[in-house]
Amino acid sequence: MSIPTQTIPAFGLGTFRLQGQVVIDSVSTGLELGYRAIDTAQIYDNEADVGQAIADSGIPRDELFITSKIWIANFAEDQLIPSLKESLRKLKTDHLDLTLIHWPSPEDQVPVAEFMGQLLEAKRLGLTRQIGISNFTIDLMQQAIAAVGAEHIATNQVELHPYLQNQKVVDFATANGIQITSYMTLAYGEVLKDPVIQQIAQRHQATPAQVTLAWAMQQGYAVIPSSTQRANLESNLKALQLTLSAADMAQIAGLERGHRLTSPKGIAPTWD
Ligand SMILES: NC(=O)c1ccc[n+]([C@@H]2O[C@H](COP(=O)([O-])OP(=O)(O)OC[C@H]3O[C@@H](n4cnc5c(N)ncnc54)[C@H](OP(=O)(O)O)[C@@H]3O)[C@@H](O)[C@H]2O)c1
Repeated sequence: MSIPTQTIPAFGLGTFRLQGQVVIDSVSTGLELGYRAIDTAQIYDNEADVGQAIADSGIPRDELFITSKIWIANFAEDQLIPSLKESLRKLKTDHLDLTLIHWPSPEDQVPVAEFMGQLLEAKRLGLTRQIGISNFTIDLMQQAIAAVGAEHIATNQVELHPYLQNQKVVDFATANGIQITSYMTLAYGEVLKDPVIQQIAQRHQATPAQVTLAWAMQQGYAVIPSSTQRANLESNLKALQLTLSAADMAQIAGLERGHRLTSPKGIAPTWD
């Protein structure tokens, strides 16, 4: 099965909360099943395990798309690039495909222009092929664009699922050519119990997870669902073969309820 790629792959594997043998097994199984994009982060404390699973897979580096994210403690000018080099060491690679700013700097302690400038420098040094942002509001996206230019910002990775569709952020990013990556597309499993999604799944003889992932991809968003279960990893990937009707899409659009799951105190910006 081939995974379509835009600027960044439409389908990848998330690794948040997974560590040690659990993440090694998830990534190894994912790679065996055909996943080629892996999403990790410095703060997940699993980059070395992810790197081990990738190395053990024997898959050539140029067939993989590895994303990591710079933690907020590493934004200082003399820290960002060294921290990225440490991520590369753990991941056993000489470059990332995509490096994101994980969260904006709390209370603008480090100005956007400063950390975005460092991230762009990392790209110039060949440490990462592409750069991007995560959990950025419209105001912060504007600042990032002013700092490095929209053409350098591959994606804004944000919480986005049927219960939090983040339309304002999507519209601004899209208008500026910044791709959206949906994280927690399954709302950490919550939307899988939704009766509307279950009915659509039944009509297509698909699973609620496949319906939710197809809904996101059909809007042009990249997805990175995580799973510790081989059966879920395998069936989620088949969302690539599911096409929803305009009526299905409209029904899911109607599920919006501003239900945000991730908003860490002291870190999260004032949301749009
Ligand atoms: N940038 C950020 O700040 C940020 C924040 C959060 C997440 N992320 C990224 O986004 C990724 C995805 O988010 P997430 O892992 O928090 O949540 P998610 O992908 O929405 O949901 C994962 C949960 O859904 C379950 N699941 C997966 N497939 C399933 C299926 N087919 N049927 C039933 N249950 C299923 C998994 O359980 P099982 O293990 O039992 O399958 C797991 O509990 C993360 O791993 C991380 O890489 C980024």
